[in-house]
Amino acid sequence: MGVYTASATAPVNIATLKYWGKRDKKLNLPTNSSISVTLSQADLRTHTSVAASSDFHEDKLWLNDKLESIKSERTIACLADLRKLRKEMEDQKSDLPPLSTYPLHIVSENNFPTAAGLASSAAGFAALVVAISRLYQLPQDMSEISKIARKGSGSACRSLFGGYVAWIMGDLENGEDSKAVEIASAEHWPEMKAAILVISDDKKDTPSTTGMQSTVASSDLFQWRVKEVVPRRFEEMKSSILEKDFAKFGELTMKDSNSFHAVCLDSYPPIFYLNDTSKKIIKLIHNLNETENAIIAAYTFDAGPNAVIYYEEKNEKKVLGSLYEHLSSVSGWKDSLVNELNLTSDGS
Ligand code: PMV
Repeated sequence: MGVYTASATAPVNIATLKYWGKRDKKLNLPTNSSISVTLSQADLRTHTSVAASSDFHEDKLWLNDKLESIKSERTIACLADLRKLRKEMEDQKSDLPPLSTYPLHIVSENNFPTAAGLASSAAGFAALVVAISRLYQLPQDMSEISKIARKGSGSACRSLFGGYVAWIMGDLENGEDSKAVEIASAEHWPEMKAAILVISDDKKDTPSTTGMQSTVASSDLFQWRVKEVVPRRFEEMKSSILEKDFAKFGELTMKDSNSFHAVCLDSYPPIFYLNDTSKKIIKLIHNLNETENAIIAAYTFDAGPNAVIYYEEKNEKKVLGSLYEHLSSVSGWKDSLVNELNLTSDGS
């Protein structure tokens, strides 16, 4: 019997308006809408190849050359949804090979450390879901497919698009309206650059799902954030992207990173993702912006100490120069101080 194959590459996306909190853990439905920027394919990405054959005995997954059993409920949920869509096609067209019944062999590779606050699960689930949707030749658009990636890891739904992406929280209980949509392509704002400052590639202390559950259950500040702060900030950030207003975009990005880490600190027991080096970076960026009398650089931190700095190309020398000047003597860097990144034009 034949072997059917397909592959996909998905880059990491870094949220500028953070997703933090689930209203449904199984469906990965968020408590707020979020916005992110997808990085370049050439930088941090997952490449996934899939093969289906009736000769295979079971589904298998090799992650970074290591055979892993497919035990995770989230991976199982994604595979089940994709098979269901394929089965619907097969039921309508009897001459299609019954790929929905064939076991899958999946080979996935990251070019960056897994689970270190570098959004590895986002790129991982996005590449997995897109590779299988290609193998199955599913006709659904990327927003539809993003609902499946979302069940793997919430933020994964945003890695299906390049450029500037929104994940709409939706309000239907079945999650059918909670999906990713493009705000603008990378070409819309080609001057935008990102630098990632790798402080540590250790696995994160508190996994994001555990952290979110704890925040939702115990933080009073969180209620204010999701009801009052994020809905307003979502509209403002979207406009700042469409208007290419870096000062506004940068301010909102920094404020939202701080707000996310504040609700982590307000959780009980508190969750700490930032370390002393992260805090030095925050101060340094504020000092730089003050010296320039304008916001020319913006930091953001996910569930780990590593920083992502956004800036426009015209300010690259100033921003990277300042980081090198002030940080090269600071201990705690993993290897390279700064990896400069471009944005991607194609998230899949
Ligand atoms: O998708 P998850 O479960 O890895 O959660 C991601 C959470 C943050 O990275 C902190 C924020 C975000 O919106 O990506």
